[in-house]
Amino acid sequence: MKIQLRVWRQPAPSSPGRFVEYAADHVSPDMSFLEMLDVVNERLIAKGEVPIAFDSDCREGICGACGFLINGRAHGPDALTTVCQLHMRRFKDGDVLTLEPWRAKAFPVLKDLVVDRSAFDRIIQTGGYTSVNVGGAPDANAILIGKPTAESAFDSAQCIGCGACVAACKNASAALFTSAKISHLAVLPQGEIERKDRVVRMVEAMDRAGFGGCSNEGECEAVCPKGISLTNIATMNLEYWRALK
Ligand code: SF4
Ligand code: FES
Repeated sequence: MKIQLRVWRQPAPSSPGRFVEYAADHVSPDMSFLEMLDVVNERLIAKGEVPIAFDSDCREGICGACGFLINGRAHGPDALTTVCQLHMRRFKDGDVLTLEPWRAKAFPVLKDLVVDRSAFDRIIQTGGYTSVNVGGAPDANAILIGKPTAESAFDSAQCIGCGACVAACKNASAALFTSAKISHLAVLPQGEIERKDRVVRMVEAMDRAGFGGCSNEGECEAVCPKGISLTNIATMNLEYWRALK
């Protein structure tokens, strides 16, 4: 296959960026999307040019490091799929693909397709943990958790912090991410002690980081590669209201 790429190139956070076109020839349908970019980069390096910067780590949909817009859609065209899980067989010979980084004030572009997602870390640092001593692994079984509760906590805990929800939202809101982290701990007994402080601190940290407010558009849920539900945002709002009462 031959794919035409239009890639956002920006050498540094304060430098202006622009789209640059590259022809990706001899692309195998069995390649992953990032392998295709690896091949493009090897050719750029061989020509003495600067390779395209993009983030990745696990390359199996777990770490949340990868992620950019492909033809305007966060993580590309497939539902419940991160960029690193995409394969070139999803595209056709001759396709033109526009690649650009997440666009959000709270996620400044570092280089090309790489953004600084440390705003998420700052939200987690204010409350996305339990500071009570919950013992070792065998102690986990000493507190019985009902199956519906365990599944609810696990559904929320699947958020990988990729930032696609922010990129897809017209307000650049981090409500889906933050609410998933709050909901995960709110339903478990281990999270109970810090429950009220946690939601207040995390919501305030989200606002301080420069993310926009949620206006229930649902774009975040539509692009989330882990299927995090909007009901997490309703839970966060309820938890916040209860904490302030
Ligand atoms: S809620 Fe979904 S889209 Fe947002 S950071 Fe978590 S996994 Fe990514
Ligand atoms: S590289 Fe880890 S989720 Fe894509």
